[in-house]
Amino acid sequence: SFAFDAETDAEFERLAARYPIRESMIMPALWLAQQQQGWISAETIEYVAERVGTYPAKVFELATFYTMYHLRPVGTYHICVCRTLSCYLRDKQEIVDFLADEAGIRPGQVSDDGRFSLEEVECLGHCGSAPVVQINGEFYEDMNVEKLRALLTTLA
Ligand code: FES
Repeated sequence: SFAFDAETDAEFERLAARYPIRESMIMPALWLAQQQQGWISAETIEYVAERVGTYPAKVFELATFYTMYHLRPVGTYHICVCRTLSCYLRDKQEIVDFLADEAGIRPGQVSDDGRFSLEEVECLGHCGSAPVVQINGEFYEDMNVEKLRALLTTLA
């Protein structure tokens, strides 16, 4: 079962004091849970609902709506490849195929060594410089296989 550790709990209470409406704590609470555990499990959703004082369905709805929440375990480096039109037209598939060959990960998977995970996502909002890749929240535009290869070698 999931519970906040002492440090996360203290942070939760500190934030809760600033949010008079308990339900607006759902997203910060999910974020804290993800920081602690790396991802959000079904048990985490129940726990957050209980802490915030709402229904699990409501927490689940937000957790699934926002791509920043991971509903399954991710690697140390979580790679999101945009699959929407501009990136699709500018060969995002080459990048996805490269990651399958190089890191052995297909969308939805974590590499055996736990270093990388891959997810295909909807438009990342930088269509003018497609294809776009996001790694742990950082954007990389005008991507191609050579650039990505170089980038991956710089990651510890
Ligand atoms: Fe890929 Fe918008 S279509 S960033």
